Amino acid sequence: MTVGAVSLNALDPTAVAGLDKETRNLIDRRSKVMSPLYRLFYQKPLRPARAFGTKIIDVYGDEYLDAYNNVPCVGHNHPRVVDAITRQLSLINTNTRYLQSDIVEYAEDLVSTHGPRLNNVVLTCTGSEANDLALRIARHVTGGTGVIVSRFAYHGNTRDVTTWSPASGTGVIGDEVRLVSPPDGFRTDANLAAAFVREVQTQIEDLQRNGIRLAALVVDSLFSSDGIFPDPDALTQAVAAVHRAGGVFVSDEVQSGFGRTGSAMWGYQRCGVDADIATMGKPMGNGMPIGGVIMKQTHAERLGAHVPYFNTFGGQNVPVAAAQAVLDVIRDEGLIANAALRGGQLVDGMRESLDRFGHCYHIRGAGLYIGVEFATDLHTKSPDPSTADAVVNGMRRRRVLISRCGPHANVLKIRPPLVFSHSDVDRYLTEFDAVVRDVRAARD
Ligand SMILES: Cc1ncc(COP(=O)(O)O)c(C=O)c1O
Repeated sequence: MTVGAVSLNALDPTAVAGLDKETRNLIDRRSKVMSPLYRLFYQKPLRPARAFGTKIIDVYGDEYLDAYNNVPCVGHNHPRVVDAITRQLSLINTNTRYLQSDIVEYAEDLVSTHGPRLNNVVLTCTGSEANDLALRIARHVTGGTGVIVSRFAYHGNTRDVTTWSPASGTGVIGDEVRLVSPPDGFRTDANLAAAFVREVQTQIEDLQRNGIRLAALVVDSLFSSDGIFPDPDALTQAVAAVHRAGGVFVSDEVQSGFGRTGSAMWGYQRCGVDADIATMGKPMGNGMPIGGVIMKQTHAERLGAHVPYFNTFGGQNVPVAAAQAVLDVIRDEGLIANAALRGGQLVDGMRESLDRFGHCYHIRGAGLYIGVEFATDLHTKSPDPSTADAVVNGMRRRRVLISRCGPHANVLKIRPPLVFSHSDVDRYLTEFDAVVRDVRAARD
């Protein structure tokens, strides 16, 4: 099965001629020594030099408001993360083959945020590794191989994971993989939970018809790469259907985890469902490479009895120190509540501007994860990627960083560090208002 690749906010190589000489020169040098697999963001690439909190300073000394990067979730260079890393680096940074209380304490703390069901963790370096391992566990404990994911899901970059990540752009989806449409509240008026469970049930039956046993439904509960569809009720019936078919529910928390949704630490908790396995990454170490898989003790024992797992860098002391500081700061600074408050202010303010200038859009979000979808008209709801592109690059010119997502790249992706403040919201909304005004005027 092939799925088309889409270029999200990538620099158009044919537009490089319009850039200044120094930037062109660096792009040229980069393209000679760095793989063409890489993409640069924006029509004029950003050249960051340093950062703090929600701000990035570029090499020219200009300050940008970061409304895009979820990895530095407690803010770029948070002093408690910097202190924790520095202190730990001056002591020791080694691996999980040794008995070390700091790693055990972190594992205990992390596990406690998931409640009693998920109580056993494996630490990795990336979300891709976490998802790769999660599906190995799911296949091992269920005896099945089938996987159901959303139509434009992204779960990582390993060879296996790309076969169940339609958005990875490889164009190859595994024979045992089935795709379901996300709970799209813009195009579906009906009950989204009922619509989603129908999709999942249909694919379970298709797998069965083809003699493939279901291993897992793997979902990012924000459906972020599909275009951000955060309906909290969509998963309940679907997870029950997966269990009836003998599969497990893997909650990919790489985007929705660590309080981003403003109502719980984990995306599946916000949705009121129990995960059988959860995977974590990106914000976990505020920029230090750390991810993880959390599962039930019984599942861990069943896999661990057969296969050892070692990851040289996964669970080293320095990234673990950063990860511990992240959990502490989220709690001490009340960042889950802040995500809810600032996310609500952003949605209200953007809606006001978009209405005032007569845009055709649909806005949705959970906490500080917000999508604004542009359509050509409200009747056909055909995707309008050029307006999304104009807004993203207009914001960049006004020194506010956002991006876009979805299979048609027509959905703004707004996902700032969780420490986004009242004055950040004000600055964001002032620039957004001017950009959507200008974009609209350029079209009329
Ligand atoms: C939902 C989701 N899962 C997994 C991954 C993979 O994480 P990583 O890039 O750390 O391998 C990503 C990365 O964008 C993601 O968005």
